[in-house]
Amino acid sequence: MEKQRLDKIIASTGRWSRREAKELIRRGRVLVDGAAAHSAEEKADPEASEITVNGEPLCYRRYTWLMLNKPAGVLSATEDGRGRTVLDLLPPDLCRRGLFPVGRLDRDTEGLLLLTNEGGLAHDLLSPRRHVDKVYYTRVSGRLTEADREAFAAGLTLPDGLACLPAGLEILSAGEESEARVTLREGKFHQVKRMLACLGKPVLYLERVRMGPLELDRSLPRGAYRFLTEKELEKLRGFDNPTKNVKSSPKTS
Ligand code: URA
Repeated sequence: MEKQRLDKIIASTGRWSRREAKELIRRGRVLVDGAAAHSAEEKADPEASEITVNGEPLCYRRYTWLMLNKPAGVLSATEDGRGRTVLDLLPPDLCRRGLFPVGRLDRDTEGLLLLTNEGGLAHDLLSPRRHVDKVYYTRVSGRLTEADREAFAAGLTLPDGLACLPAGLEILSAGEESEARVTLREGKFHQVKRMLACLGKPVLYLERVRMGPLELDRSLPRGAYRFLTEKELEKLRGFDNPTKNVKSSPKTS
């Protein structure tokens, strides 16, 4: 592959920023094929050279994958004249990597949002044919009932004619306001809100808690991000949704 600056290669791992990479190089902690590097501007082929940092082999990442705990009030877009986007929550070094959100959450929806610059895998996860599960926690106005669960499981048809795939509605509490976990295998515009509104239970709060094999990391404060771990990336790459061919009603519990 093409040669790249050493500080960029080191920062690709997500363990160090470019500034920290420069400092490591200055302190002689970075070896390229056994020889100490002298400058961050030195170039190397990360797939052909053996690079070590503090004596450990560097695990180069060609693509960046981040998990963001999206707060309300920011848009899932790369740029938008109407307000702050999720990219405004990242440091400039990461913004320059061409990241984009994997799918969209509404401005007021919180929770798990993946960001990447790997178009192929992102496209795969979003492809309607893959039916990747998206799980949401929601609080609605009104009492959710067994009939609502059954309507979700059968596949709702919305007033505008949109026929939704069978979906999961696990009722967590029911009262004047109710709480539930909703599992969708598709991602139409405002889908959770529209499905629940159609049952007369408007959404008061919505948070995505899972996408495919990845759970929202609860140790991430709202607005914070982290790099996906190697294990999480393996899960994403090897992901084959076990429920993708199921036509009948899913149970979410
Ligand atoms: N469904 C919605 O209604 N909004 C979201 O942000 C995500 C799913």
